[in-house]
Amino acid sequence: MMHAFGHWWAREDLRYDHERLVFCGRDVAALAAAFAEPLFLYNAARLRQNVGRLHQALSGLGLPFRIYYAMKANRFEPLLCELRRTPLYGIDVCSPEELREALACGWRPEQLSFTAHGMMPEDAELLAALPQVHVNCDTLSAIRLLGEHSPGRSIGLRVNLGIGIGYADSDRLSYAGQRTTKFGIYREQFSEALETAACHGLHVTWLHCHAGCGYLEAQLASFERVLQALASFSDKVPGLQGLNLGGGLGLPHRANDVALDLGRWVGLIRTHLGHLGLEIAIEPGDFIVKDAGLLVLRVGYAETKRDRRFVGLNGGFNLAVEPAFYDLPCEPVPCRPRAGPAEVVTLAGNINEALDLWASDVALPPVEPGDFMALLNAGGYASSMSSNHCLRGRFRELLLQP
Ligand SMILES: Cc1ncc(COP(=O)(O)O)c(C=O)c1O
Repeated sequence: MMHAFGHWWAREDLRYDHERLVFCGRDVAALAAAFAEPLFLYNAARLRQNVGRLHQALSGLGLPFRIYYAMKANRFEPLLCELRRTPLYGIDVCSPEELREALACGWRPEQLSFTAHGMMPEDAELLAALPQVHVNCDTLSAIRLLGEHSPGRSIGLRVNLGIGIGYADSDRLSYAGQRTTKFGIYREQFSEALETAACHGLHVTWLHCHAGCGYLEAQLASFERVLQALASFSDKVPGLQGLNLGGGLGLPHRANDVALDLGRWVGLIRTHLGHLGLEIAIEPGDFIVKDAGLLVLRVGYAETKRDRRFVGLNGGFNLAVEPAFYDLPCEPVPCRPRAGPAEVVTLAGNINEALDLWASDVALPPVEPGDFMALLNAGGYASSMSSNHCLRGRFRELLLQP
């Protein structure tokens, strides 16, 4: 298939111009050369566009809606501040520190939704001091704890619908499904959850679910089953105000991935939930930030061992764990491709661990030490999940404005 800018991943703000990779109007190699360490680049305009695309799609829903940004995907402060200038309703936070960070970036308590996973007594204490923050409880214990500290509060219940969705139907990216997971309240405990809430004077006003991460067109049939299952809970909760569908919206990682058709996605929500007349919330992370970010690394060596050509980069899986942890495909793009026949190579990181490979059997133009390589889709779950393993955790982040 022909692509408007020559490669499946290319778009107006990310493409080759005279054999130079240009991102947000900048020559990526020239920018990276100014820094000694691995560099994350984010395009502020792309963030705004991604929020805008979701906002526009949901405007066709015919129901009131809220878009929360899931901070766990990327908490770089300039990015969080930038997102305040978009039509987001607020931020989804899932720990006390994320909550404090959101407040520090200027978000107001009433704009925050707290996913109370693994709630501890001190978390409940903090939340008691911030009654405007919305809390979604995902265990009976969290309901009890919150009830003890904040009686009379309105809450959401995160349910586990037993249906998982994820990129390429990966089990590792599913948060619910055949396997019993730690997330959410199962149907058989739902009555007990409602009773526990009532017992502590908590009012259940929202239902919440998050089925998994990275779903695309191919997973919309499963998404439809999630919606049907969620709808079947709604009549059990008098006084229900809204349904939160979680995050999980994915984006293409390979040439053959079919991007989500947001019109179709909204159509399914309307079909299965529209008649309930409730408010709809979503809390995407990846969809907003992932394709707005690149990780730029330098080639350290290119060397053949037996039948395999290795290209080693100056950054490893500790800076972007998803290819190693979740098998998410990594798309390497040379910043200044050299002329010559393509070589099939294994792209390796610089961490002394067997799983530290970015991509195997990938065709690249010839590369030499000192060349820069951009790894695409590094805006989500890369810097936020990074570690200092082998004391190689240094990196820089820049938010670019066009
Ligand atoms: C409860 C919840 N909401 C939202 C998200 C954001 O998901 P994503 O970045 O895939 O949209 C997650 C991610 O795991 C989550 O667990």
